[in-house]
Amino acid sequence: MIHSSLAWHGFSLYGEVVNARLKGASRHPGSPTCLGPGIIHVVLSLWISPSMSRSLLVNLIAANKEPFSVGGIMNVTDAIKARKSVRSYLDKAIEDEELVSVLEAGRLAPSASNRQEWRFIIVRDKTMRKRISDAASRQSFVGDASAIIVACAETDEHAMMCGQQCYPIDVAIALDHITLAAVEKGLGTCWIGAFNEKQVKEILGVPNEIRIVGLMPIGYPADPSISEKTRLPFDRIVKYEHW
Ligand SMILES: Cc1cc2nc3c(=O)[nH]c(=O)nc-3n(C[C@H](O)[C@H](O)[C@H](O)COP(=O)(O)O)c2cc1C
Repeated sequence: MIHSSLAWHGFSLYGEVVNARLKGASRHPGSPTCLGPGIIHVVLSLWISPSMSRSLLVNLIAANKEPFSVGGIMNVTDAIKARKSVRSYLDKAIEDEELVSVLEAGRLAPSASNRQEWRFIIVRDKTMRKRISDAASRQSFVGDASAIIVACAETDEHAMMCGQQCYPIDVAIALDHITLAAVEKGLGTCWIGAFNEKQVKEILGVPNEIRIVGLMPIGYPADPSISEKTRLPFDRIVKYEHW
Protein backbone atom coordinates (compact mmCIF):
# COMPACT_ATOMS: atom_id res chain seq x y z
CA MET A 1 0.00 0.00 0.00
CA ILE A 2 2.73 2.37 1.03
CA HIS A 3 4.68 1.28 -2.05
CA SER A 4 1.84 1.83 -4.51
CA SER A 5 0.93 5.21 -3.07
CA LEU A 6 4.55 6.33 -3.18
CA ALA A 7 4.87 4.97 -6.70
CA TRP A 8 1.88 7.10 -7.75
CA HIS A 9 3.44 10.15 -6.11
CA GLY A 10 6.61 9.19 -7.87
CA PHE A 11 4.94 9.37 -11.27
CA SER A 12 3.23 12.66 -10.53
CA LEU A 13 6.49 14.10 -9.25
CA TYR A 14 8.17 12.75 -12.36
CA GLY A 15 5.73 14.82 -14.42
CA GLU A 16 6.55 17.86 -12.34
CA VAL A 17 10.25 17.27 -12.76
CA VAL A 18 9.87 16.99 -16.53
CA ASN A 19 7.78 20.16 -16.58
CA ALA A 20 10.29 21.90 -14.37
CA ARG A 21 13.04 20.76 -16.70
CA LEU A 22 11.25 22.22 -19.70
CA LYS A 23 10.94 25.48 -17.82
CA GLY A 24 14.40 25.11 -16.37
CA ALA A 25 16.01 27.87 -18.41
CA SER A 26 14.93 30.47 -15.93
CA ARG A 27 16.31 28.69 -12.92
CA HIS A 28 19.34 29.92 -11.11
CA PRO A 29 22.22 27.52 -11.10
CA GLY A 30 22.95 26.24 -7.65
CA SER A 31 19.54 27.18 -6.32
CA PRO A 32 17.72 24.62 -4.15
CA THR A 33 15.30 23.82 -7.00
CA CYS A 34 18.25 22.47 -8.99
CA LEU A 35 19.26 20.13 -6.23
CA GLY A 36 15.74 19.24 -5.02
CA PRO A 37 14.60 16.90 -7.83
CA GLY A 38 17.81 14.90 -7.58
CA ILE A 39 17.15 14.17 -3.91
CA ILE A 40 13.50 13.34 -4.67
CA HIS A 41 14.66 10.87 -7.32
CA VAL A 42 17.00 9.05 -4.99
CA VAL A 43 14.36 8.81 -2.22
CA LEU A 44 11.70 7.57 -4.68
CA SER A 45 13.98 4.99 -6.20
CA LEU A 46 14.47 3.45 -2.77
CA TRP A 47 10.70 3.12 -2.17
CA ILE A 48 9.35 1.94 -5.50
CA SER A 49 9.08 -1.86 -5.98
CA PRO A 50 12.27 -3.47 -7.34
CA SER A 51 10.61 -4.60 -10.63
CA MET A 52 9.71 -1.01 -11.47
CA SER A 53 12.62 0.72 -9.91
CA ARG A 54 15.30 0.10 -12.51
CA SER A 55 13.54 1.52 -15.58
CA LEU A 56 11.86 4.26 -13.57
CA LEU A 57 15.11 5.25 -11.97
CA VAL A 58 16.78 5.43 -15.39
CA ASN A 59 13.97 7.70 -16.59
CA LEU A 60 14.07 9.80 -13.47
CA ILE A 61 17.79 10.29 -13.75
CA ALA A 62 17.40 11.18 -17.43
CA ALA A 63 14.67 13.66 -16.50
CA ASN A 64 16.93 15.16 -13.89
CA LYS A 65 19.60 15.99 -16.47
CA GLU A 66 19.00 19.65 -15.78
CA PRO A 67 20.10 22.30 -18.25
CA PHE A 68 22.10 23.75 -15.35
CA SER A 69 24.35 21.56 -13.33
CA VAL A 70 24.69 22.45 -9.68
CA GLY A 71 27.59 24.84 -9.27
CA GLY A 72 26.73 27.13 -12.13
CA ILE A 73 28.04 25.42 -15.24
CA MET A 74 25.43 25.19 -17.99
CA ASN A 75 25.59 23.09 -21.10
CA VAL A 76 26.23 25.45 -24.06
CA THR A 77 23.70 23.67 -26.30
CA ASP A 78 21.00 24.11 -23.66
CA ALA A 79 21.87 27.80 -23.33
CA ILE A 80 21.64 28.26 -27.10
CA LYS A 81 18.25 26.55 -27.16
CA ALA A 82 16.93 28.49 -24.17
CA ARG A 83 18.05 31.92 -25.38
CA LYS A 84 15.31 34.01 -26.92
CA SER A 85 14.67 37.68 -27.48
CA VAL A 86 13.03 38.91 -24.29
CA ARG A 87 10.70 41.86 -24.73
CA SER A 88 9.04 41.90 -21.33
CA TYR A 89 10.95 42.20 -18.07
CA LEU A 90 10.24 41.95 -14.35
CA ASP A 91 10.82 45.04 -12.24
CA LYS A 92 13.73 43.38 -10.45
CA ALA A 93 17.31 44.64 -10.23
CA ILE A 94 20.26 42.51 -11.29
CA GLU A 95 22.91 41.96 -8.64
CA ASP A 96 26.23 43.65 -9.53
CA GLU A 97 28.00 40.30 -9.30
CA GLU A 98 25.64 38.69 -11.84
CA LEU A 99 26.03 41.58 -14.25
CA VAL A 100 29.81 41.55 -13.98
CA SER A 101 29.90 37.82 -14.61
CA VAL A 102 27.76 38.20 -17.75
CA LEU A 103 29.93 41.07 -19.02
CA GLU A 104 33.01 38.98 -18.35
CA ALA A 105 31.71 36.50 -20.95
CA GLY A 106 31.85 39.36 -23.45
CA ARG A 107 35.37 40.29 -22.39
CA LEU A 108 36.51 36.73 -23.07
CA ALA A 109 35.10 36.64 -26.61
CA PRO A 110 37.39 36.21 -29.61
CA SER A 111 38.15 39.14 -31.92
CA ALA A 112 40.08 39.71 -35.13
CA SER A 113 43.80 39.88 -34.27
CA ASN A 114 42.60 40.06 -30.66
CA ARG A 115 41.83 43.75 -31.21
CA GLN A 116 39.09 43.81 -28.51
CA GLU A 117 37.62 47.07 -29.74
CA TRP A 118 34.43 46.52 -27.74
CA ARG A 119 33.49 48.96 -24.98
CA PHE A 120 30.32 48.62 -22.93
CA ILE A 121 28.30 51.32 -21.19
CA ILE A 122 25.92 49.96 -18.56
CA VAL A 123 22.87 52.13 -18.10
CA ARG A 124 20.80 51.40 -14.99
CA ASP A 125 19.32 54.82 -14.30
CA LYS A 126 15.58 54.69 -15.05
CA THR A 127 15.36 58.13 -16.68
CA MET A 128 18.33 57.41 -18.92
CA ARG A 129 16.88 54.01 -19.85
CA LYS A 130 13.67 55.71 -20.90
CA ARG A 131 15.56 58.25 -23.00
CA ILE A 132 17.52 55.47 -24.70
CA SER A 133 14.38 53.46 -25.42
CA ASP A 134 12.88 56.59 -27.01
CA ALA A 135 15.97 56.75 -29.24
CA ALA A 136 15.42 53.08 -30.07
CA SER A 137 12.26 53.64 -32.12
CA ARG A 138 10.34 53.99 -28.84
CA GLN A 139 10.66 50.27 -28.11
CA SER A 140 9.50 50.79 -24.53
CA PHE A 141 10.56 47.31 -23.31
CA VAL A 142 14.18 48.42 -23.79
CA GLY A 143 13.73 50.91 -20.96
CA ASP A 144 11.82 48.42 -18.80
CA ALA A 145 14.80 46.10 -18.44
CA SER A 146 16.90 46.44 -15.32
CA ALA A 147 19.89 47.63 -17.38
CA ILE A 148 20.81 48.45 -20.94
CA ILE A 149 24.18 47.39 -22.28
CA VAL A 150 25.24 49.93 -24.88
CA ALA A 151 27.76 48.06 -26.99
CA CYS A 152 30.31 50.46 -28.47
CA ALA A 153 33.50 50.14 -30.45
CA GLU A 154 36.63 52.20 -30.00
CA THR A 155 37.81 51.52 -33.50
CA ASP A 156 40.10 52.58 -36.32
CA GLU A 157 37.63 50.82 -38.66
CA HIS A 158 40.26 48.30 -39.63
CA ALA A 159 39.15 45.79 -42.27
CA MET A 160 40.32 42.22 -42.54
CA MET A 161 41.89 40.84 -45.73
CA CYS A 162 38.44 39.47 -46.67
CA GLY A 163 37.16 43.05 -46.81
CA GLN A 164 34.92 42.87 -43.75
CA GLN A 165 35.34 45.44 -41.01
CA CYS A 166 36.43 43.93 -37.72
CA TYR A 167 34.52 46.00 -35.21
CA PRO A 168 30.87 45.14 -35.94
CA ILE A 169 31.72 41.45 -36.11
CA ASP A 170 33.79 41.49 -32.93
CA VAL A 171 31.25 43.47 -30.94
CA ALA A 172 28.50 41.12 -32.18
CA ILE A 173 30.44 38.07 -31.02
CA ALA A 174 30.96 39.63 -27.58
CA LEU A 175 27.26 40.46 -27.35
CA ASP A 176 26.37 36.91 -28.30
CA HIS A 177 28.60 35.58 -25.53
CA ILE A 178 26.73 37.95 -23.22
CA THR A 179 23.32 36.66 -24.33
CA LEU A 180 24.32 33.07 -23.56
CA ALA A 181 25.95 33.88 -20.23
CA ALA A 182 22.78 35.79 -19.33
CA VAL A 183 20.67 32.67 -19.94
CA GLU A 184 22.82 30.77 -17.48
CA LYS A 185 22.01 33.40 -14.86
CA GLY A 186 18.27 33.26 -15.56
CA LEU A 187 18.48 36.64 -17.29
CA GLY A 188 16.93 37.67 -20.59
CA THR A 189 18.30 39.94 -23.30
CA CYS A 190 17.31 41.27 -26.70
CA TRP A 191 19.58 42.52 -29.46
CA ILE A 192 18.46 46.01 -30.48
CA GLY A 193 19.57 47.26 -33.87
CA ALA A 194 16.74 49.74 -34.37
CA PHE A 195 18.17 52.81 -32.66
CA ASN A 196 19.39 56.24 -33.64
CA GLU A 197 23.11 56.20 -33.02
CA LYS A 198 23.46 59.99 -33.00
CA GLN A 199 20.73 60.39 -30.38
CA VAL A 200 22.10 57.63 -28.13
CA LYS A 201 25.55 59.20 -28.38
CA GLU A 202 24.14 62.55 -27.29
CA ILE A 203 22.26 61.03 -24.35
CA LEU A 204 25.34 59.21 -23.05
CA GLY A 205 28.06 61.70 -24.02
CA VAL A 206 29.75 59.17 -26.32
CA PRO A 207 32.56 60.82 -28.33
CA ASN A 208 32.11 61.20 -32.07
CA GLU A 209 34.80 58.73 -33.08
CA ILE A 210 33.23 55.90 -31.06
CA ARG A 211 30.64 53.74 -32.84
CA ILE A 212 27.60 52.21 -31.16
CA VAL A 213 26.99 48.77 -32.63
CA GLY A 214 24.02 47.58 -30.64
CA LEU A 215 21.88 48.03 -27.56
CA MET A 216 21.05 45.14 -25.29
CA PRO A 217 18.42 45.39 -22.56
CA ILE A 218 19.10 42.83 -19.84
CA GLY A 219 16.86 41.78 -16.97
CA TYR A 220 14.73 39.04 -15.52
CA PRO A 221 12.21 37.85 -18.12
CA ALA A 222 8.51 38.14 -17.33
CA ASP A 223 8.03 34.83 -19.15
CA PRO A 224 11.04 32.58 -18.66
CA SER A 225 9.64 29.64 -20.65
CA ILE A 226 11.52 28.30 -23.65
CA SER A 227 10.01 29.33 -26.99
CA GLU A 228 9.91 27.47 -30.26
CA LYS A 229 12.43 28.93 -32.71
CA THR A 230 11.30 29.83 -36.20
CA ARG A 231 14.31 29.08 -38.35
CA LEU A 232 15.05 28.07 -41.93
CA PRO A 233 15.45 24.33 -42.36
CA PHE A 234 18.96 22.94 -42.04
CA ASP A 235 19.10 21.88 -45.72
CA ARG A 236 18.33 25.41 -46.85
CA ILE A 237 21.32 26.91 -45.08
CA VAL A 238 24.02 24.24 -45.17
CA LYS A 239 25.73 23.08 -48.35
CA TYR A 240 28.50 20.53 -48.49
CA GLU A 241 31.69 20.85 -50.51
CA HIS A 242 30.41 23.54 -52.93
CA TRP A 243 27.64 26.19 -53.22
C1 LIG B 1 21.42 42.49 -35.21
C2 LIG B 1 20.05 42.30 -34.60
C3 LIG B 1 19.20 43.39 -34.45
C4 LIG B 1 17.96 43.23 -33.83
N1 LIG B 1 17.17 44.33 -33.58
C5 LIG B 1 16.01 44.18 -32.91
C6 LIG B 1 15.25 45.33 -32.54
O1 LIG B 1 15.59 46.48 -32.78
N2 LIG B 1 14.10 45.12 -31.84
C7 LIG B 1 13.67 43.87 -31.50
O2 LIG B 1 12.62 43.76 -30.85
N3 LIG B 1 14.39 42.76 -31.83
C8 LIG B 1 15.55 42.89 -32.51
N4 LIG B 1 16.31 41.79 -32.80
C9 LIG B 1 15.84 40.45 -32.36
C10 LIG B 1 15.37 39.59 -33.52
O3 LIG B 1 14.11 40.02 -33.96
C11 LIG B 1 15.34 38.13 -33.06
O4 LIG B 1 16.64 37.73 -32.68
C12 LIG B 1 14.81 37.18 -34.10
O5 LIG B 1 13.47 37.46 -34.43
C13 LIG B 1 14.88 35.73 -33.64
O6 LIG B 1 14.16 35.52 -32.44
P1 LIG B 1 14.87 35.01 -31.10
O7 LIG B 1 16.00 35.95 -30.78
O8 LIG B 1 13.79 35.02 -30.06
O9 LIG B 1 15.39 33.63 -31.36
C14 LIG B 1 17.54 41.93 -33.42
C15 LIG B 1 18.40 40.86 -33.57
C16 LIG B 1 19.64 41.03 -34.14
C17 LIG B 1 20.56 39.84 -34.23
